Amino acid sequence: MPHYPTDMRKHPEVEAFFDPATHTISYIVWDRATRDAAVIDSVMDIDYAAGRITHAHADRMIERIEALDLRLTWIIETHVHADHLSAAPYLQQRLGGQTGIGARIMEVQETFGKVFNEGTEFQRDGSQFDRLFEDGDRWSLGEIDCFAIATPGHTPACMVHVIGDAAFVGDTLFMPDGGSARADFPGGDAGELYDSIQKLLSLPEEMRLFMCHDYGPGGRDIRWETTVGEEKAQNIHVGGGKSREDFIRFRTERDAQLAVPKLIIPSLQVNMRAGEVPTDPAGNPVLKVPVNGL
Ligand SMILES: [Fe+2]
Repeated sequence: MPHYPTDMRKHPEVEAFFDPATHTISYIVWDRATRDAAVIDSVMDIDYAAGRITHAHADRMIERIEALDLRLTWIIETHVHADHLSAAPYLQQRLGGQTGIGARIMEVQETFGKVFNEGTEFQRDGSQFDRLFEDGDRWSLGEIDCFAIATPGHTPACMVHVIGDAAFVGDTLFMPDGGSARADFPGGDAGELYDSIQKLLSLPEEMRLFMCHDYGPGGRDIRWETTVGEEKAQNIHVGGGKSREDFIRFRTERDAQLAVPKLIIPSLQVNMRAGEVPTDPAGNPVLKVPVNGL
């Protein structure tokens, strides 16, 4: 495991944008000193039944970035999401910035390139993104040092990004009362997810953690921020030192009962292309539905 250079003295500003349609939380994170900003896990709106794509959620973020007078330098995906579409290209076109995702996106592209029977024009080398992160890779947001932690298990390309004293955990963990994300997608692995969660829980206890999803278990209000210390003590799936064997057994049984995410078919096709909608040979945006392919 590489050395992760945490610096708890740096406190980036964080603003969350909850998308009620998909229960996703997108973030604007910025360095107060330089006004450089990153967007983590943006959302593009889709009415799948109507085949209609719009950008209200991303527009709210753009308005806010402009109102705060920030410079968008990074547009990061914690992983290839299966439940919402990324708005990365829309944000990049409007505000600039570099897109980035975990380097194992190539495996995800290989897997789903087959599922969606993509032709050779679909590159499976991650080249749709400006930056591919490896475990321990460093980057910077203004004067704040940042680094990526590879956290496979939910998907192979999952990454947690640490920005000063804040970590954006993707679907590596949910809030303490939400537990953990499923590990049954192609390339997912419950044991790997457990190991990845342990990496995350080895960060300083006061580290702020920001979730990618929250479903308000038990009818409570939606929440997205906790700490490493709280997760360690209270997470219902891994807190209090639960064993790897118990976690794998529990996660596997639970996953077998979960329904397929409603937007998995459009989400994968778009997100494995860094948020670009695929096109037919005439250049028209189209989505496929592989029958009995998933
Ligand atoms: Fe996910």
